[in-house]
Amino acid sequence: MATPAFPPFRILLSRDQILRRTNELARTITEAVHGEPLCLVVVIEGARTFARQLQKLLPGNLPLHEVRASSYGSGTVSSGDVKLTVGLDVPCKDRHVLLLEDIVDTGRTIAALRTHFAAKGARSCRVATLLSKPSRRVVQVPLDYIGFEIPDEFVLGYGMDLDGRYRDIPDVVIYEKAVEQAFQQQVAAR
Ligand code: IMP
Repeated sequence: MATPAFPPFRILLSRDQILRRTNELARTITEAVHGEPLCLVVVIEGARTFARQLQKLLPGNLPLHEVRASSYGSGTVSSGDVKLTVGLDVPCKDRHVLLLEDIVDTGRTIAALRTHFAAKGARSCRVATLLSKPSRRVVQVPLDYIGFEIPDEFVLGYGMDLDGRYRDIPDVVIYEKAVEQAFQQQVAAR
């Protein structure tokens, strides 16, 4: 029997659930913006899958601009220090920015991005996030569109990674070191 590609992490949200919810969000956003063109900005890498799906569903064939904001380094706990690197030149002046994020945890990344786009002259800056972990919030940031609120677990899949691994898991799963280790031992024993 072929070895499965990923450890059998517990599924928190199936790809189907995510796609259904993304459809709902796209409808809500479309109604809210009243035809005013948005400047779509995806926080890479983790939010790419969510952002591309939403982009397809929003009218106007809008381009997707990218920013990179990193605070995690390697591991599952935020370092608290947010660095904006890629995408500091997104053409946002006098435009309505819609930030597309995979997950809002402490809130520091989104807070830093909102400050950045306000300073660059955006007319407004709204946030659509696939996931939110409200119990982890350190900085209170307004989130305009939330896919799902989730408990304090480190999640992976649907574009989200741990040190570059597990992005391709189609569902959102809960990372567990013991599950990963058992899987690695099984693979090594083959
Ligand atoms: P914040 O600045 O603490 O809100 O962190 C936001 C960023 O941390 C997200 O864009 C993710 O890249 C990363 N992050 C936070 N929680 C998780 C998680 O459970 N899985 C994967 N990445 C996460």
